[in-house]
Amino acid sequence: MPPLLEARELVKHYPLTRGILFKKQIGAVKAVDGVSFALDPGETLGIVGESGCGKSTVAKMLVSLERPTSGQILYKGEDITKLSGRALKAVRRNIQMVFQDPYTSLNPRMTVGDIIGEPYEIHPEVAPKGDRRRKVQELLDVVGLNPEYINRYPHQFSGGQRQRIGIARGLALQPEVIVADEPVSALDVSVQAQVINLMEKLQDEFGLSYVFIAHDLSIVRHISDRVGVMYLGRIVETGTDTEIYDHPTHPYTQALLSAVPVPDPEAREQRERILLTGDVPSPTAVPSGCRFRTRCWKARERCALEVPLLAVPAAFRDVDTPARHESACHFAEEKQVVPVEPQGGLKDKWADRPQFR
Ligand SMILES: Nc1ncnc2c1ncn2[C@@H]1O[C@H](COP(=O)(O)OP(=O)(O)OP(=O)(O)O)[C@@H](O)[C@H]1O
Ligand code: SF4
Ligand SMILES: [Mg+2]
Repeated sequence: MPPLLEARELVKHYPLTRGILFKKQIGAVKAVDGVSFALDPGETLGIVGESGCGKSTVAKMLVSLERPTSGQILYKGEDITKLSGRALKAVRRNIQMVFQDPYTSLNPRMTVGDIIGEPYEIHPEVAPKGDRRRKVQELLDVVGLNPEYINRYPHQFSGGQRQRIGIARGLALQPEVIVADEPVSALDVSVQAQVINLMEKLQDEFGLSYVFIAHDLSIVRHISDRVGVMYLGRIVETGTDTEIYDHPTHPYTQALLSAVPVPDPEAREQRERILLTGDVPSPTAVPSGCRFRTRCWKARERCALEVPLLAVPAAFRDVDTPARHESACHFAEEKQVVPVEPQGGLKDKWADRPQFR
């Protein structure tokens, strides 16, 4: 059986132009530059990465708000990027989005009932007009809000309640997949757990599959079955939550995780902190070879010449268990990082990079 939802080499480049009247393309913003993953029914795939690495752009392509520059999105084996009209509309119903900021994503002039019921205007077959009020009240109840609030406006709710309204709206068409783009990032920490718990409950109740996007590594670990780590438009490592969090193989993941606070003082003592130097390069000027090489303490000559593909490192391949712990690093199998002595006078450049022992 094919996965429920699959991305294959997804690319989104935005043209970079100069001039106001006679626009001339002078380059491209490589927002997403070859992203692949698969999502099974009932599964949660977490996507983590720093600001600007392309997470929202992936989300928008999955729900057909943006058309990919190239690549495929397969829903139950069918490429939906080629669909239009009725066929596209039918697929869109099954893949819904929950947005990041419940303060700006809900129209302040609409009642909660109209906001949650709006998708029925496009898909009246799901709820005929006479049935909508009842359906919306049911949805309010499902997300833990009082059905009598149906005529209230967004400003009458707290942040957490507003995100519940956003989730109810996402559920209105009874989708199979929810793409949640940082659904709790704008909320207070105390409220985040409540919304995450609600999402987990809804997943069990309705058999939903989630693509869950976040900055916060601990939240992603909590909710995800599998995790994809993004850097500058590409996924650099994927695996189960245990593989990624306990045995990261990509230097970027290792660095990200080394910065996560550890409550246990002994574990904290033993941990090697990896400080990344330099900034993330601009998506208009992506480095050759491995795009992480300008910040990678393991980088050597090959990294500038060859793009590392996302794959299970040879040493970890096991014929009995088809592992899916993939890493886009030429040297992912190296458990120990030997201080680099690059050829060609790069020594000074790398001399002050932190070493991971
Ligand atoms: N419509 C657009 N036109 C040009 N560039 C864009 C457009 N949308 C996004 N970008 C650029 O693409 C890159 C990826 O943006 P995206 O919003 O997907 O990142 P993100 O990972 O969601 O970031 P954040 O964590 O801040 O939400 C950024 O450099 C952004 O400036
Ligand atoms: S391929 Fe090279 S630069 Fe890229 S992550 Fe691996 S060691 Fe670092
Ligand atoms: Mg975003």
